[in-house]
Amino acid sequence: MSNIVIGVGGGIAAYKACSIIRHFTESGHHVRVIPTESALEFVGRATFEALSGNPVQTGVFADVPQVPHVRLGQEADLVLVAPATADLMARAAAGRADDLLTATLLTARCPVVFAPAMHTEMWEHPATVANVQTLRDHGATVLTPASGRLTGADTGAGRLPDPQEIALLGELMLERPDALPRDLEGVRVLVSAGGTREPLDPVRFLGNRSSGKQGYALARAAAQRGARVTLVAGTTADLADPAGVDVIRITTADQLAAEIATRATETDVLIMAAAVADFKPLSVADSKIKKNGDRPAPIELDTNPDILRAAVTARAAGDITAETVIVGFAAETGDEHGGVLDHGREKLARKGCDLLVVNAVGDGKAFGMDDNTGWILADGGQETALPLGSKTLMATRILDSVSGILKR
Ligand code: CTP
Repeated sequence: MSNIVIGVGGGIAAYKACSIIRHFTESGHHVRVIPTESALEFVGRATFEALSGNPVQTGVFADVPQVPHVRLGQEADLVLVAPATADLMARAAAGRADDLLTATLLTARCPVVFAPAMHTEMWEHPATVANVQTLRDHGATVLTPASGRLTGADTGAGRLPDPQEIALLGELMLERPDALPRDLEGVRVLVSAGGTREPLDPVRFLGNRSSGKQGYALARAAAQRGARVTLVAGTTADLADPAGVDVIRITTADQLAAEIATRATETDVLIMAAAVADFKPLSVADSKIKKNGDRPAPIELDTNPDILRAAVTARAAGDITAETVIVGFAAETGDEHGGVLDHGREKLARKGCDLLVVNAVGDGKAFGMDDNTGWILADGGQETALPLGSKTLMATRILDSVSGILKR
């Protein structure tokens, strides 16, 4: 159980802080909510008190014998500010301590995460850009906001990232406080995620159990490390679009192959985390296949393109820049021919990518789970064990390896 301080700025997105508070209390953490006075114009004090199970103050003169303006920050394991308005970040960047939240931000020595939410003009204003940089220079993590519908009819960058995503990133900072350096600023990253569906007829398909969580975690973490990320997503569990990421949806392996083939020529990193079906029905019926007696008709299969292999071949042929880093995944169970790692090593050699992330699957492992374990195998022979941790943490370790290759 950790001590989490959730700061809430005075913006229309303040109501979304309620889901984040709930996430952390339900995960068993001790949560203190510190809204600004203007946040209480949007969400009432009673809501924050009921959700956190703790009293809520905005100023430094309440409960004085407990010295909350110093103690809350000192005792926190994580301070998460959502939404962080332009005004709140300006005050925090200047080191002001004129309310309980800013005083807490000055005394906190734990990871501090700001999740900004404001209109695009405010986000892009040089004053805000400078304040964000100052906060980052001071060691805080300022999340990249999402793009999309803002209050009113306008759209653009400045939306609060999805509460589920903010909670995941908060958990990540508890697991690993240095997980989100801005080391991928401007790097173009293309990630595939989720499963493919290969249609049999208008209502049936062959598919797999991939949830897409690992690929989404990679896209999310890369964007928060400053990368320009495109996520090509097949079928997934109900996952929020990662903030600041272009999401393209596909259904079949052929569609995924086409998207990757065009986009791989304009990327610095390609990460194939999708669970691509190796086979598809040879023909797709135009109308629903009927039972036609008791004996089911066999399904004839055709092979799908190997997208990862095609990217490696295209790079060797010069169609993709030689510097493009290509990362593959291997889901292995191990069998009589060898263990999980043996199959991983063989696959790395066969696929010819720079890095292969090997996960042990089956028996409740990996697929659909929030945690994962495995190894990162590099083409130079280095092997890094990935101890059990969240898929978001796993993503940051994979990006560390990618970042290492990009620097070479
Ligand atoms: N992959 C791909 N195209 C395919 C199949 C897989 O690009 N048609 C990619 C996956 O996204 C993953 C890697 O290849 O990054 C490994 O996939 P896997 O299915 O485990 O490898 P296979 O070559 O199919 O090996 P096997 O089925 O023998 O384990």
